[in-house]
Amino acid sequence: MNELEQVELSFNDDVKRVSNTKELENLRVLYLGKKGKITELFSKIKEIAVEEKKAFGQKINSIKTYVEQKINDLKNKFEEEKVKSEIANEKEIDITLPVSTGTGSLHPRTSLQKEIEDIFISMGFTVEDGYEVETEFNNFDAVNVPKNHPARDMQDTFWLTNGELLKTHTSASQNRILRKYNGPLKAIFPGRCFRNEALDHSHENTFFQMEGMLVDKDVSVANLIYFMKKMLSKVFKTDINIRLRPGFFPFVEPGFEMDATCTFCGGRGCSTCKNTGWLELCPCGMIHPNVFKNAGINPDEYSGFAFGLGFDRLVMLKTGLDDIRYLNSGNIKVLNQFGVEA
Ligand code: DAH
Repeated sequence: MNELEQVELSFNDDVKRVSNTKELENLRVLYLGKKGKITELFSKIKEIAVEEKKAFGQKINSIKTYVEQKINDLKNKFEEEKVKSEIANEKEIDITLPVSTGTGSLHPRTSLQKEIEDIFISMGFTVEDGYEVETEFNNFDAVNVPKNHPARDMQDTFWLTNGELLKTHTSASQNRILRKYNGPLKAIFPGRCFRNEALDHSHENTFFQMEGMLVDKDVSVANLIYFMKKMLSKVFKTDINIRLRPGFFPFVEPGFEMDATCTFCGGRGCSTCKNTGWLELCPCGMIHPNVFKNAGINPDEYSGFAFGLGFDRLVMLKTGLDDIRYLNSGNIKVLNQFGVEA
């Protein structure tokens, strides 16, 4: 018992000399550590006579609690003092200095999307929303791609276990939009598309397209050419010439590949256009009668054109990025170069 009192007295003595967290930690180890004075007292219990064991045990426990409490109180006190002194020193910070806000910016894809949407809106188009998870019907059947038709294999599809799929092209929205207007319409529908592709500098499994349709009476290829020329000239802020080559897509007849004069060399030939002077930009064509029929529209009454802009390619041409994978990378160093304030 005497020894216990000695330990308590020496602790009370030592604790008075502690003036910072480091010294406090040393004190804690000295008394409560593995070989600490109090820890060692516990090991003495077995040497104590049976009738004194209980009182001895109680006493050590109460000393231990007392020491722990004292150390804890001091710890809190030191921490409080630290915060107080930090706050006092903060007066030295000049709060009038300008700070960098770093609010972020729009993704180049988003800013170009807005720009193109505005151009189409100014020409009387509506902007429609599309789904990312689609039915097999909307993605394929409705746009005249029958089951077992080789055209289905042109697009490697991510199938879902419930039989639906991640839309492989924005054309998947055509049927819904045709039904919505059930007659004349001018609509664009930008959206994210998915294909099970091997990735390289020009292929992504997740990419953006911007599709458009114009439906009315007596629509012709001339209307298609007019709108595409207008739109591209506005996007590239210079007069753009376009040319059409035959192209096969089940949802259009006739179908075309549309090329535009190379925006980098003005048509003289450069590495971007592989010295052809033309950039392949946008498949398009006159809406196939079956697409109209599938949406309950009479193809003898209405005609129209459709196009499917490879939107990411356009973003790359506008920004000069030479690898499509940057667009989904979230790489701040890349994206910051094209920052447009949100
Ligand atoms: N959906 C086609 C694709 O992703 C692109 C396309 C071609 C869309 C011709 C159209 C079109 O609207 O008329 O490969």
